[in-house]
Amino acid sequence: MILVPTRGRISWAATLTLLLAATAVLQPAAAVDDEDEEGGIPIDKKKEEFVPIKFVEPKLSTEVTKDATVHMWEYFRGRGGIIGKTWLKSKAKKDGVEAEISKYNGEWDIGTPSEVSIEGDYSLVVKTDARHHAIASKLSKPFSFDEGKTLVMQYEVRFEEGQNCGGGYVKLLSQGAEKTLEEFNDKTPYTIMFGPDKCSPAGKIHLIFRYRNPVNGTVSEHHARQSDSIAASYWDDHKTHLYTLTVKPDGSYTVTVDYKSLYYGSILKDVTPALEPPKLIADPDDVKPEDWDERKEIEDETATKPEDWDESAPKEIVDESAEKPADWLEDEQPLMPDPKAEKPDDWDVDMDGEWEPPMIENPACVGISGCGEWKRPIIKNPAYKGKWRLPKIANPAFKGIWAPRQIDNPAYFDPSDAPLAGLEPVTTMGIELWTMSKNILFDNLLITDSEAVAKEAAALTFDIRKTEDSRLRSSKGDGAGIFSGLVDAAEDKPWLWAVYVLAVIIPVIIIAVFCFGRKSGPDGPDVAYRKKYDVPTADDETAPGLVNENGEEVQEDEEDDEAAVQAEVVKQLEKRNEKRRSSASPGCKTPASGKKKTIREQIEADDSDDSSDNSAAGDAKASASEKDEVEPTPSPAAKPAPKKRGRAKKAE
Ligand SMILES: *[C@@H]1O[C@H](CO)[C@@H](O)[C@H](O)[C@H]1NC(C)=O
Repeated sequence: MILVPTRGRISWAATLTLLLAATAVLQPAAAVDDEDEEGGIPIDKKKEEFVPIKFVEPKLSTEVTKDATVHMWEYFRGRGGIIGKTWLKSKAKKDGVEAEISKYNGEWDIGTPSEVSIEGDYSLVVKTDARHHAIASKLSKPFSFDEGKTLVMQYEVRFEEGQNCGGGYVKLLSQGAEKTLEEFNDKTPYTIMFGPDKCSPAGKIHLIFRYRNPVNGTVSEHHARQSDSIAASYWDDHKTHLYTLTVKPDGSYTVTVDYKSLYYGSILKDVTPALEPPKLIADPDDVKPEDWDERKEIEDETATKPEDWDESAPKEIVDESAEKPADWLEDEQPLMPDPKAEKPDDWDVDMDGEWEPPMIENPACVGISGCGEWKRPIIKNPAYKGKWRLPKIANPAFKGIWAPRQIDNPAYFDPSDAPLAGLEPVTTMGIELWTMSKNILFDNLLITDSEAVAKEAAALTFDIRKTEDSRLRSSKGDGAGIFSGLVDAAEDKPWLWAVYVLAVIIPVIIIAVFCFGRKSGPDGPDVAYRKKYDVPTADDETAPGLVNENGEEVQEDEEDDEAAVQAEVVKQLEKRNEKRRSSASPGCKTPASGKKKTIREQIEADDSDDSSDNSAAGDAKASASEKDEVEPTPSPAAKPAPKKRGRAKKAE
């Protein structure tokens, strides 16, 4: 078989190819089976024209809002009356940037995605690329962290065209910003910055707190520790994603994307630099004394060169004791002209010069110590000492390496009693970003003190949009939406790939059984399949004698639910095969007819020839009330029998 996943590692590419192949296989079968499956949408019917639903204002219920404060709930209810009214574009210049791109001249609009799944549902859109964009809107009420309330910040971002390099984050601007919305720029103080940002293959979901040290008044940025598994799909899948930040009064925070926890931590422990300043610091007034001796070793100035130290003795000398070996032949040369060589006939002395025979090894020198002039070898000089230097001794004045004195940090404070006390009140929502990809949609911006409100807000917006977007995608055909959904799911849970692989392999194996089972005899793939997966087989008269390795008939294990289900599947297939021996299986050429038949054709054929029969094909249309052991059999490509079949069988 081609599919043997157990051997070695399967690359993702291979897995994908496999899945694609399987999708292709699944399509025709699903088209038939869906008619019978409860809740299944027949694929044929999906291709009808998509009619978007109408936008309904996501009004929060008083049930959730009665004990909550909603500081902002911006869902962009129409195109007019927003930009220039409640949302003001910045007219500021960006410091330290070249004149042409120094202005916040990026364009904003209220618009929809390029493909509308909800008619009249508008978003705030970043319209331009390679520009600075800034826009801000006042909260209906400031959010103060000293009231002991939870902060929930939630919004949607959609990178309609992906993102090469740029932001999708928002800034909760600190008190004061609300007075000068049109001056909003990168220097405007914010309290929290939150959301996606990407300028390298690995993006970030920022969470930055700006915190005022209560002792010295300095405000500094503290970055939350990032997750190391941030999905590229947040930027690349062109879908709407929901970002939710929750900050509790105890300083704990959570960041979720599409309701899935991305990271969480505490402002007291998980931010860089740490919120709590060091208790001790180096005393800035303490300087190293000039006479501080940090040399561990010094030269011994009292030492003198020994009398017998000869600095002039050479490093190497001729070995005067060496003697010429007795077999050395000084009169012979190691190489000699080849006596057998002859001057070529076409040798032209004028052109080529005087002819000389090539040199060869002198045979007289082979096997002896050597030939030619003998010389004494060069050896190391035992009397060599080199230049004399003062020896090193421990420095008696050594005081150790100097370090400044540690003193109590005058700026120290203990944030643990009021972890959020240093966060300035938030008055304004600001979006200030540079982007290389245009058409970024922001929507459903919520600031509240209630997680229940955030949940309801998302249910009224994100959940509906998600459903409608996938309905729109599937309406465009081919189940690509379903498929990409599977891929998305596996991005978060890589083990799902294993499930997919199995989900593909099992039907493929069943198809193989279907196609080749009869032809290959007792040792064919179906037997191999049973051996490999240890499938107990039903004791069925109509089934051909299925045997195990020992040639005994394989007994059904009634106790084992799973096994019973598998056995039932195999049994059904056997039956079906029996019926079909002369007819075609999907994708299998029948030697008799030499013609392919689709499952539908088969079923129609079966319905007409043997409607009274309990064959598997008949089952597809058989009513559930029929008191037959044979139940609707999945087509080979469909999922193996659902578990309830096993239970039903047991109950019999
Ligand atoms: C205030 O204290 C912080 C430590 O929390 C320190 O980083 C900062 O430099 C101090 N500011 C001044 C002006 O000393």
